[in-house]
Amino acid sequence: MTAVEWLRHANADEVAERAVEAILELADSAIAARGRFRLVLAGGSTPERAYRRLAERRTDYTGWQFYLGDERCLPADHPERNSTMIQRSWLDRVAVAGQAVHWIPAELGPERAASVYEETVRDALPFDVVLLGMGEDGHTASLFPGQSHDPGRLVVPVTAAPKPPPERVSLNYGALCAARAVLVLVTGEGKREAVRRWRAGEALPVAQLRCRSGLRVLLDEAAWPDS
Ligand code: 6PG
Repeated sequence: MTAVEWLRHANADEVAERAVEAILELADSAIAARGRFRLVLAGGSTPERAYRRLAERRTDYTGWQFYLGDERCLPADHPERNSTMIQRSWLDRVAVAGQAVHWIPAELGPERAASVYEETVRDALPFDVVLLGMGEDGHTASLFPGQSHDPGRLVVPVTAAPKPPPERVSLNYGALCAARAVLVLVTGEGKREAVRRWRAGEALPVAQLRCRSGLRVLLDEAAWPDS
């Protein structure tokens, strides 16, 4: 059983602020202990709020390495790629060396991109922090309900995602869990039913993350089923 810590906050801004504080603290301890900080980023509007705040903090990014949990198969600078959102909201606004950022080459298509990124992920494990969102159907990264993936792969191609675009690349459950800390950010009333189902023990994708580190779920009151 994975220990899930449910951390409730008043609203989405507070969730974003707590996520920022957690990331900066975990970065400091990773740098102090190992001289580097390997962070896996998520797409979605809830993480984006945290990135905008991170861009405003004065941070020394020496030793930071950035990875992605999933990407949409669109051309490299497409406005709807997760990488584009993360650049605009955070990385383009701070001093980070290009070689510290490891985007998924999703423009190559799901299969090729997944094989290329498999090597990148293998070399990076274990991550220090994996940041995730959760969709209304309980998906996380691009691991959707009803889709199974070869557990032997760290990175998987996705060809029929119910959320557009259908072609995506995602870190698999095992790779997302190979981290010292896993943070899941969940906000808004639209997520309440999925949170209820997750807490009730339903087999949603997010509930299939069996992480030794446990999971820290930061959520706002609107997403909390009893509110
Ligand atoms: C994507 C993300 C996806 C996202 C969740 C939650 O490509 O959209 O990778 O997994 O994190 O759908 O998104 P929101 O925070 O926008 O609800």
